Amino acid sequence: PSATLIDKFGRQVTYVRISVTDRCDFRCVYCMDEEMSFLPRADILTLEEIGLIARVFSELGVSKIRLTGGEPLIRNNVMSVIEEIGALPDLNELVLTTNGSQLTKLSKGLVSAGVRRINISLDSLKSERFRQLTRTGNLETVLKGIDEAITAGFSRIKLNAVILKGRNDDEIIDLVNFARDKKIDISFIEEMPLGDISSHDRGESYCSSDEILTTISKVYPLTPISDSTGGPSKYYGMTDSSSRIGFISPHSHNFCGDCNRVRVTVEGRLLLCLGNEHSVDLKGVLRSHPGDVERLKQVIIDAMDLKPERHYFDNNEDPQILRFMNMTGG
Ligand code: GTP
Ligand code: 5AD
Ligand code: SF4
Repeated sequence: PSATLIDKFGRQVTYVRISVTDRCDFRCVYCMDEEMSFLPRADILTLEEIGLIARVFSELGVSKIRLTGGEPLIRNNVMSVIEEIGALPDLNELVLTTNGSQLTKLSKGLVSAGVRRINISLDSLKSERFRQLTRTGNLETVLKGIDEAITAGFSRIKLNAVILKGRNDDEIIDLVNFARDKKIDISFIEEMPLGDISSHDRGESYCSSDEILTTISKVYPLTPISDSTGGPSKYYGMTDSSSRIGFISPHSHNFCGDCNRVRVTVEGRLLLCLGNEHSVDLKGVLRSHPGDVERLKQVIIDAMDLKPERHYFDNNEDPQILRFMNMTGG
């Protein structure tokens, strides 16, 4: 690449997460309000714009792009842009985070498009409870989707579980057993304070990675492994299984020091940190100077100076990001 992206703290950005839609067919209690309003079409990036932004990042030394949402797979014609990004010559990895609802239909196409790994959210294995946590999701559909993904031939599949006290903390071992049975990985994520959700008290439901690790260790001794995907998960192995167990611990083990990533929101803002609002409007640049790829590149390079050192999720004076998770894809 002609240039690389380095911030003021010497961190190189090699991983970009792009939210391709703010819409979702689920309404997970920790992610969305029951009544959500979504953005009008004119405010969100077109698929062409997303493809161009992805290309420019790969020319700037980014080796990994993750598509997120909302639910990325419910955007109309999303497969066309996935194929386009999958064909970028300098990109090592195109990956996707999904709620699993469309995988029965789309898994094979994703593999052909060059998606090597996918992360699938799964917070409960009980139908009733899955419905309560996602408000509109159907567990059986997601489980079918997971099976289809397993047969489609991704090189690695990871489940993501957000554990909430009193809601699904009794399923930690069941979720680990499910991952073991399916020979896939699972990461446990500490809930983050994004979006003000009136019906949900984050303080009450917070469950730390250490508590989860202690619970699992009583059944399966865990040994840290050096394996890294370039994301924030710290992985552990079990002696009798190939499944890896990851922990994403933004509260209890801050990982901002080796942050290698930025995000592009569904509105085309380059967001320099999930836990801050520092951003640059790429959509404005694209629309006021159509086709001026050099200008877009320079704007992205200059934006690196705005990347903050870390998030302050646990600072009580400034506790809450108003933006909902679905704008930035987590
Ligand atoms: P891989 O390591 O590539 O498998 O993916 P990942 O863990 O980076 O991606 P995934 O979409 O599965 O994200 C899992 C969780 O990690 C989500 O809740 C993200 O919000 C969170 N996450 C990813 N990057 C960051 C980050 O820079 N800061 C914080 N606070 N959370 C992050
Ligand atoms: N805190 C932590 N994780 C969240 N996710 C969505 N909202 C939150 C939140 N507030 C998770 C989803 C999905 C991943 C992309 O982000 O469960 O697995
Ligand atoms: Fe949709 Fe994912 Fe948010 Fe759940 S966490 S509502 S699946 S975007």
